[in-house]
Amino acid sequence: MKRLLVLTVLCLALPVMAADKPDPLLKRGRYVVEMGACNTCHTALYGMLGGKIPEADWLTGDKVGWRGIWGTTYATNLRLYMQELTEEQWMQKARTLSTRPPMPWFAIQAMSDEDLRALYRYVRSLGAAGKPAPSYLPPLVTPRGPYVQFPFLPL
Ligand code: HEC
Repeated sequence: MKRLLVLTVLCLALPVMAADKPDPLLKRGRYVVEMGACNTCHTALYGMLGGKIPEADWLTGDKVGWRGIWGTTYATNLRLYMQELTEEQWMQKARTLSTRPPMPWFAIQAMSDEDLRALYRYVRSLGAAGKPAPSYLPPLVTPRGPYVQFPFLPL
């Protein structure tokens, strides 16, 4: 009888214990973000402060523009971006991703399926935070906020 009770308790507890186990892809996703240096552009001041920015603020985008012949781009708030996509939508988007500079979209395309999933799950697990980054500006528009100027190439 006692044995049966122990067994019953175990059977009830096991699924709960399994559900509590963190997704192993989350740890990998954090690693992908760190190795991909995504925070350098997608987290304000990250590069300047040598990465001393709390994880809660990671990937919330930046209002410093990148201006060159392509116009002015702003690193997207990925915390909001990922919330709007399902995992499958992200996987499809990532495989054909091509953006304006200086986003290294080719680094995303070089990732394995598992790394892409891990990245998505990790960013989603951080939750929505921050405001959307400013919108893209065409080449002849001077940004009102701060920006980094790339040299105009003699084409
Ligand atoms: C050198 C700066 C820089 C780095 C490093 C960088 N990004 Fe970006 N990212 C940008 C900019 C700028 C944009 C906006 C591009 C545009 O407007 O066309 C962007 C846009 C994006 C977008 C939105 C694409 C879309 O659908 O419009 C995603 C997703 C993204 N980055 C993911 C990442 C990830 C993941 C990493 C790390 C592996 C990363 N970025 C590293 C600058 C950067």
